[in-house]
Amino acid sequence: MVALEPSATLAMAARASALAAAGVDVIDLSVGEPDFPTPPHICAAAEAAIRAGKTKYTPAAGIPALRAAVAADATRRTGSEVTAAQVVVSNGAKHALHNVFMALLDDGDEVVIPAPFWVSYAELVKLAGGVPVILPTRLEDDFKLRPEALRRALTPASRMLLLCSPSNPTGVVYTPDELRALADLAIEADLAVVADEIYDQLVFDGRAAVSFPTLRPGLAERTVVVGGVSKTYSMTGWRIGWTIAPEALSKAIGNLQSQETSNPSSVSQHAALAALTGPQACVLEMCREFQRRRDLVAARLRRIPGVRLPDIGGAFYAFFDISAALAAGVGGITTSGQWCEQLLEREHVALVAGSAFGAEGHVRMSFAAAEAKLVAGLDRIERFLSRG
Ligand SMILES: Cc1ncc(COP(=O)(O)O)c(C=O)c1O
Repeated sequence: MVALEPSATLAMAARASALAAAGVDVIDLSVGEPDFPTPPHICAAAEAAIRAGKTKYTPAAGIPALRAAVAADATRRTGSEVTAAQVVVSNGAKHALHNVFMALLDDGDEVVIPAPFWVSYAELVKLAGGVPVILPTRLEDDFKLRPEALRRALTPASRMLLLCSPSNPTGVVYTPDELRALADLAIEADLAVVADEIYDQLVFDGRAAVSFPTLRPGLAERTVVVGGVSKTYSMTGWRIGWTIAPEALSKAIGNLQSQETSNPSSVSQHAALAALTGPQACVLEMCREFQRRRDLVAARLRRIPGVRLPDIGGAFYAFFDISAALAAGVGGITTSGQWCEQLLEREHVALVAGSAFGAEGHVRMSFAAAEAKLVAGLDRIERFLSRG
């Protein structure tokens, strides 16, 4: 447990807030949460739940109405039947991932994780006794895992494949065909698949993020989908996420949760229920705004000599290559960690080093911030990169 790394994104955000508290004009583009308020009808549902006395323990796996709403929402959006018994509601998607790893992994089980990866995956796998097998991907492939690379990484201890599309930190979205090729290999190698689909409604340019278990018959039996309200409805602080898993596994996850944490916050569950069953226009509006910002950020970054980035199809991150700047070694800076430190110190912009996501030579910028802030941040980044 002492070997566990702290969350790099939260650590960077804490440093940026400390500087801001000291009066420095910091532009914090490090954090992965929408900058919009939680929509009012969702807050109103939480207030109503409090007034109605919905403030006691609930069933450990979540209130039946919310489990049913998650199942109905998934069924409607994917076209494949999901039942309430397949759903366990947890304290955010992070907790949901922890539950899956604890329930499925035995000591020494290998989990294939394509890099760049979301910061918590490898640490949560280790916590459950698993062994993260990190597979680098290439910017030239839009940071997507190729089936032949997966095949090469398989060993007799391979137990699970972890996929995140749309991706944090790269924003790339796999096509159905790309996912199908990985699915075929997962079936052939008898792997469980954890599909982190928390950004599935934040997709751009008319794309639809397809849900992994719907891609081939028989996939649902080996797949756990992780989702939640944090990103879709700007509800990061409410801490509601979920797993959609085969029924027997859901039961095991519910039992584990009943021992470890009991139910997620009762009031938050009622808010999440309102999010899923209420008007969905707020999701479209937020998504459109993220797409506008993606256009701005990607165009500005691409103009900077030496900077390269993939096709950002969803989520709210730009993960860009600064290896040319690091190779030049200006100011003795040779790692993405040093680069981010210096950017914060000199230009007061907080980004997160690619090394935290298993991809040295890159940095992650969140565009979950108002346009004026993004423009000012990009001006400073450009100035920092062009210093001699
Ligand atoms: C890919 C990914 N999965 C899971 C999570 C965790 O979400 P939650 O806030 O619901 O725990 C995040 C949050 O940053 C994420 O980016």
